[in-house]
Amino acid sequence: MASSSPSTTSSSSSDLLVVLPHQSHSISNGIFHLSFSHPWQTLPHPLSIDLVLDASPGCGGVAWPAGQILATYLVQKGSDFVSGRNTIELGSGTGLVGLLAGILGGKVWITDQSPLLPIMGRNVFINNLCNNVKVAELNWGSPIPPEIPRPDLILAADCVYFEPTFPLLVQTLADLADATTEILFCYKKRRKADKRFFALLKKAFTWEEVQDDPNRSVYNREAITLLRLSKKLA
Ligand SMILES: C[S@@+](CC[C@H](N)C(=O)[O-])C[C@H]1O[C@@H](n2cnc3c(N)ncnc32)[C@H](O)[C@@H]1O
Repeated sequence: MASSSPSTTSSSSSDLLVVLPHQSHSISNGIFHLSFSHPWQTLPHPLSIDLVLDASPGCGGVAWPAGQILATYLVQKGSDFVSGRNTIELGSGTGLVGLLAGILGGKVWITDQSPLLPIMGRNVFINNLCNNVKVAELNWGSPIPPEIPRPDLILAADCVYFEPTFPLLVQTLADLADATTEILFCYKKRRKADKRFFALLKKAFTWEEVQDDPNRSVYNREAITLLRLSKKLA
């Protein structure tokens, strides 16, 4: 997986966690505990999640900064933003983003390639989210599993890093979305080749940077942007 894994030379997860507000973390018994502060009375204070991490199945087995940024954004938006919406996360890895969406009341599918499914399933279980977070294998470019309903909300964090998968990811986004689907796409710029991804994306989607995230200036400094994608009308 090394050749296709994101490089961590510019910033490690822990570097970024230190500078991200609204979030703290600790590790005990091999479990990563993340806590999010937020302004909502209807949610627990802090809002906490436990994650089993395991680097052995590939790069998705650790929590990447882009995922933490997207998770933090969802918490700041609160339950009204996610509650009751059919939600799918692509390239979930540990499942952090989708699990948070589940805690906030979304009807969520977290998806990834088969080696990640056991860790995703464990993370659903240890956070007591079996009722509203389901796990499925979804390889980009392959048919969408029939049990996954048409999503209202698509989430993806740090999924642009391996050029051969660029057309596959665009294909899956196009298969899942229509012009009404909201897509939150947290992107870490690494290589000039990433331009090819956006050249492909442009054929079917438009995008804009999410403006209402108070953490934006912090993660922009790490070459991370949170985009809202919209599918073009056919
Ligand atoms: C850098 S990790 C990001 C994981 C997680 N979203 C996060 O932010 O912590 C990229 C994820 O994309 C998944 N992935 C890569 N290629 C894929 C493909 N062709 N189909 C489905 N998932 C893929 C990997 O397994 C991995 O979990």
